[in-house]
Amino acid sequence: MKHAEEIAERLSYLGGEPTTKPDPIFIGKSLKEMMKQDKRDEENAIELYKEIIKRAREGGDETTARLFRKILQDEEEHHDFFISILEGM
Ligand SMILES: [Fe+2]
Repeated sequence: MKHAEEIAERLSYLGGEPTTKPDPIFIGKSLKEMMKQDKRDEENAIELYKEIIKRAREGGDETTARLFRKILQDEEEHHDFFISILEGM
C-alpha cells in the first residue's frame, strides 16, 4: 500500500494517472499454494521493477529509478521471506 502511494505520487508528478483498479485476487486451496503464489507475485514484481529502473535510467529519470530501486529492495526482502516460509513447510 505504501509502495502504491509512492508510485501514484510519482506518476501524478510526471503527468500520468494511476489506475485504481486492483488485479483480481488469487485464493489458493491451501496455505502452501497461497505462499507459492505470493512468491511468484514477488518474482513478477521484481522483474517489472528492474525493467522500470532500466527504462527510467535510459530516459534520464534518476528520481523514478531511485524510487523503484528502494521498492525493489523491499520486494526482494518479501521474496526472501516467502522462500523461508516455503522451506519450513
Ligand atoms: Fe512485496
